[in-house]
Parts: sequence; C-alpha cells; structure tokens
Amino acid sequence: MTKSAFGVSGSLSVRHLPGLRGVSRDDILSILQVAQAFREAIDTHAPVPKSLSGVSVVNLFFENSTRTRLSFEAAQKRLGASPMNFSAASSSTAKGESLRDTVRNIQALGADVFVVRHSCAGTPDFIASHTKAVVVNAGDGACEHPTQGLLDALTMQQRLGDLAEKRIAIIGDIRHSRVARSNLWALPTLGATVRLWGPATLLPRHPEAFGPSVTVAQSLEDALDGADAVMLLRIQHERQSSGLLPSLREYRHSFGLDKSRLTMAKPGALVLHPGPINRGIEVVSEVADNDQSVILEQVTNGVAVRMAVLHLLAGRL
Ligand code: NCD
Repeated sequence: MTKSAFGVSGSLSVRHLPGLRGVSRDDILSILQVAQAFREAIDTHAPVPKSLSGVSVVNLFFENSTRTRLSFEAAQKRLGASPMNFSAASSSTAKGESLRDTVRNIQALGADVFVVRHSCAGTPDFIASHTKAVVVNAGDGACEHPTQGLLDALTMQQRLGDLAEKRIAIIGDIRHSRVARSNLWALPTLGATVRLWGPATLLPRHPEAFGPSVTVAQSLEDALDGADAVMLLRIQHERQSSGLLPSLREYRHSFGLDKSRLTMAKPGALVLHPGPINRGIEVVSEVADNDQSVILEQVTNGVAVRMAVLHLLAGRL
C-alpha cells in the first residue's frame, strides 16, 4: 500500500468536523476512501503514516463513553499521537470553571486538536470559535455524532457497495439520537433513501428538514419493506422528559427487532446498532449476534474512520 492511499492532509474543504450537516459528498467520499485504506492496513498489519506524531491531541469528554473514547484513542495512537485525556468528573469544571476557561487553558498547554463529547448541543462549534485548534465532535447532546455517521456509512458501503438508491430503515428513538441525526444528513448526501419508524413521541418533529429522501413510515412493516439495512437505536432515557413511552415491554412488543420481523426486510439485510445495545428491548440477541449483524464491524470501522478524519484534518504529512 502506498502513502497516497491515505490521502493528503488538508484536502477536505472543512477545517473542523462538528457534524455531517452540509458536508459535501466529495468530502464524505474522501474520508470513506481513506478510512477504507486504513481499515485494510489494520487488517493486514501494514504500516500507516505516523501523521499525528508531534501533534498535540486532547480528548475532552464531558459525557460517558466506552466505544467512542477508546476508538479515538486507538486511532490517535496508531497515527503516532500521545493523546491527553480530560475527564469532566475529575477536572476543575467540577470546581465551577467555565467551558471557555477550561478550553483556553488546555489550548495554552499547546493543544492542536480537540476531540469533544458534551451533553450540550453546539459545544464543538463553541470550542472552535474560542481556540485555534482543530475540533472533532465525538457527540454533542442530541445534535450530531459525525464519526459514528461516517463509520455507519463505511460499514454499509463495504457490504452493499455504492449507497446510491439503497434503502435504509432507522428504528427507535430518533428524536433524541445524535447518531440518527448524523446519518440523516449523510445518507441522503450519498444518495440513499431513509425510512424512519418508532413511537410517535420519539420521531423527529420535522423529518422534512432532512430533505425528500427521508420519510416517516406508516408501520414497522412499511419501514422494513425492501430495506437493505436496518439501523436500531437505543432509547435515550437521559435526554428525555418523562412520559414519552408507556413501558419498555410495550416498546419491545411494537418496535423491537426479532428474527421473524427481520424477514420483512430484503433477504440478507444488514443489522446495525451504534451501541450500547439494550438486548431484548430494541433488538433480541438472536438478531444482534447473527450473521446479518455488522455491529462489531461498525466498531472496527470506527477506528479506521477516526484515523481518516484526524489524518485528513490534522495530520502532518
Ligand atoms: C451513541 C452515543 O453516545 O451517541 N453511542 C456511541 O457513540 N457509539 C449511542 C447511544 O448512546 O445510544
């Protein structure tokens, strides 16, 4: 594999990645192409450019995370960075320091890149406007989770080929999901159509905002009909006011994916979930662990996608 397979740093038309809204098809395809090259390098233990060597990367996590945080850290280390990790619970934010002051102080330590997760929508843009560093969003409230949207696209593209004309069903708590939102911006940009389904209280208030390729289904069967891939989402209890769901038992009964319901989708349709999974609620184990499930592939692709994003936005090559 040649160095050029990994693309050239600075070749994207964006400087930060706060979300996938407004990101061009060319930029998304460039990231996916470079991510695919990194994925192949990971699988074959081939060398990758140490383009983050000497780049100061800070992981600013104000919210819990398992996959995303470890995945960013793995990506940074593969590219030669020695990341610094900030955790809100053990920091001076707990002593009342403002986000602006925290960020300006970390910047004064010499940060070149911030990877940010925060419960408040818009935090990555806020940080970008107060520092000179490159900012990558690792999830802001219910707003966006761009690297998750990209890894979902990469995983589907690897199995389905070009996503143009492909039909994706997204089922669950779409209203409070930043994962859904990033997918709803990116998938139509890639030419896919998306059908949404879930309890009325958990559907987006304005699905038309995502353009004509995104529509709300009339039933579970309608959402799954002809779907090439089915993405399931966790109910985001932490972002909901009470009373949006009668009970988890009823949710499972009406919206949970089991083996017989999966047959309503195209034969061999992919099953995706960003994790963490609540087994037996949005999906039964028999489906989450079967050979149509690409849930663990999503996790592996996450490292490759984050390598691609960091390399293209901040790599020194
Ligand atoms: C998601 C998140 O945090 O937004 N998880 C993830 O990053 N893989 C989804 C979720 O918490 O349900």
